[in-house]
Amino acid sequence: MNLRKCAIIGCGFVGATTAFALTQSGLFSELILIDQNRKKALGEAMDLSHSVPFGKPVEVVAGDYPDLADCALVIITAGAGQAPGETRLDLVHKNVTIFQSIIPQITRYNQECILLVVSNPVDILTYVTLKLSGFPAKRVIGSGTVLDTARLKFLLGAHFEVDPRNVHAFMIGEHGDTELPVYSSANVSGIDFDHFCESCQRRCDQEVLRTIYEEVKNSAYQVIENKGATYYAIALAVLRIVEALMRDEHSVLTVSVLPEGHYELNDLCIGLPAIVGQGGIEKVLDVPLDADERDRLQKSAAQMKKVIGEIRW
Ligand code: 2OP
Repeated sequence: MNLRKCAIIGCGFVGATTAFALTQSGLFSELILIDQNRKKALGEAMDLSHSVPFGKPVEVVAGDYPDLADCALVIITAGAGQAPGETRLDLVHKNVTIFQSIIPQITRYNQECILLVVSNPVDILTYVTLKLSGFPAKRVIGSGTVLDTARLKFLLGAHFEVDPRNVHAFMIGEHGDTELPVYSSANVSGIDFDHFCESCQRRCDQEVLRTIYEEVKNSAYQVIENKGATYYAIALAVLRIVEALMRDEHSVLTVSVLPEGHYELNDLCIGLPAIVGQGGIEKVLDVPLDADERDRLQKSAAQMKKVIGEIRW
């Protein structure tokens, strides 16, 4: 196992932007790019290689599945993206079919790596990857609601006029239309919103928080409508997860995980706060939820289990 070697499967907008972020990170000495369109993979590898003299040493090559043999991490971004107006769940059947081809090709050459799923619908595809790979749950991770949590922190930070890094709030559940914000424990540097809003004379009633939630939930649709796809923020969300994995940071991130009974959930993957380190998922955290949040999380899980039930394995 080479801890400095990573592969990205899928060189579309998200995969290529993720590859760019990883080449700048200094985390890896070798990056393997795989795409069914080999010319695309070659072009991305060449373009990124030409950037090396401006940054950190890394070998970026277009490869194939046998090259994955000693990768510590394999990131999967392959599959169709949402067309304007399309939901992530609309992609499920075509992308499950793609994963049914990809995952066995990965596990044929590498049984020890961590698999990081980014393709949508990411929770469904993370579960599909878990089942098809046979890997332990701790080594099969989805990008989950890490990006949604960043969007929430950004919008709350703008509202409060405070650094979003000092806003502590989670989005959990489906990376999609049934996701939910955990406002009951949210705070700004330990000050709950009610008290913080008193001090900054900001309106902070349920209407404001609901509006911000709706903007988070609809962010991707708006970006896709305007520019055709999202890729910068999701690529940096992936980088954040990869940093926690490769630096053994034990960071809490709302990745898509197999809950194994946490929140009374099983047999699906879903975005929950979890400690992420070198071995993958170290622990799912049971953050306190109020009754409404618990109910909405169960509804999100039920929606995804309905979709899982329709998968033609
Ligand atoms: C996003 O939320 C499309 O899932 C992608 O940006």
